[in-house]
Amino acid sequence: METMSAVSSQTAITDFLPINGTDFIEFYVGNAKQASYFYRTAFGFQLIAYAGPETGVRDRASYVLQQGKIRLILTTPMHPGNEISAHIEKHGDGVKVLALWVDDAEKSWQETTSRGAKSHTEPTIHKDEYGEVKIASIHTYGDTIHTFVERKNYSGIFLPGYIAIDDGYTTEDVGLLYVDHCVGNVELGKMDEWVKFYEDVMGFKLLLTFDDQDISTEYSALMSKVVSNGNGYIKFPINEPAEGKKAKSQIDEYLEFYHGPGVQHIAVATHDIIATVSALKSRGVQFLRVPDTYYDDLLERVGAIDEDIAPLRELGILVDRDEEGYLLQLFTKPVEDRPTLFFEIIQRKGATSFGKGNFKALFESIEREQALRGNL
Ligand code: FE2
Repeated sequence: METMSAVSSQTAITDFLPINGTDFIEFYVGNAKQASYFYRTAFGFQLIAYAGPETGVRDRASYVLQQGKIRLILTTPMHPGNEISAHIEKHGDGVKVLALWVDDAEKSWQETTSRGAKSHTEPTIHKDEYGEVKIASIHTYGDTIHTFVERKNYSGIFLPGYIAIDDGYTTEDVGLLYVDHCVGNVELGKMDEWVKFYEDVMGFKLLLTFDDQDISTEYSALMSKVVSNGNGYIKFPINEPAEGKKAKSQIDEYLEFYHGPGVQHIAVATHDIIATVSALKSRGVQFLRVPDTYYDDLLERVGAIDEDIAPLRELGILVDRDEEGYLLQLFTKPVEDRPTLFFEIIQRKGATSFGKGNFKALFESIEREQALRGNL
C-alpha cells in the first residue's frame, strides 16, 4: 500500500506533457519563395531545408529557415482547394503550427486527446535515410494547431521529406536566439476557455493575469492570461478584447482582419537588443514607436539599468522591471498588410514577466497605427 501511495503521489506531480522547447513555427503564406527572402534578408534567418515539387512533394513548397534555436517554416500551396489555400484565403499569411519538441509524440497526443483535445493528425512515423520522426497534431484556438515532434531517432537536417539546401545566398544573423513566448488572440469571453484548455488538456499552469485595469487606454482595452508548461520553456499568453470602451480594441482589429482567433505575436530573445534592433532597422524592419517623453522619466520608473539611455531612446526600445530583474523589448509593426501578426524582440535581464509597465505607452502607439488604418 505504501508503495502504491508513493507511486500515485509521484504520478500526481509528474508532468504528463513534458516539452523540450519550441520545435518550429509554420506559416501558411501566399508566396513562400518571397516570404523566405523577407525573413532571410530583413530578419537574418538562414535557409537550411526545402520540400516541394523538386523533392517529390506535389501540393506545396516549404522553406525551413533557422536562426539560433528558432526554426520557421514558410509553406505555400501549389493549387487552390486545399487546407493551405483555404487558410490563406481566410487569414492572409499567418501561423498555422506551433510545434512542440517532445520525447514521445504518441504519448503527448494520447495524454492530450484523452483530456479533450481535438486530434488534427494521429501519430505518424516519417522515415528517410537519416532515421525517423514521429509526429502528431492537435487543434488549439482558431485554425491553429500544435504539432508534437519526436526527433530523437533522427539525424537529418529537419524532417524526412526535406532536403538540405544552399542556394548561395546568406545574410548575417541579427542575434535572435530562441522563441521566448507566442501570444494568441481569442474572441471576447473565450480567454478563460483557452486558459482552461491549456491547464486541463496540456497540463500548463496559469502564470500571470492582466485585466483591463492593467491594459487600458482611452480607446482600447484587453485582458490577458499567461499559461506556461511544466519546465517554463513554453509560454503562451492568451488575449481577449475587453468590453466597455468606446472604440475598437487592437484585439478586435486583429480578429476582424484575421477572421478569427490566431497567433498575434511571436517574441524572440536576444542577448543584445540594441545590436539586434539596430540591424533589423537598417534592413527595413518597421517598429512601433512610443513618444519621446517615455524616456524622460525612464530611470525613475525602472531604476538603474546597464544600458545607456541614448541608444534606447534613439531606437525606441522599451524597458520594464519586475521583482526579479528587468527586461528590454520592442515590437515590430505587423509583418503583413493585414494588421495581424507581428514580432517582439526581447532581452531579459532577470525579469520573467512581459512588460506590463509598457502596455499603456505601447497600446497608445498601436492605436495611432490603427487610426491611420481607419480602424479605431
Ligand atoms: Fe509579448
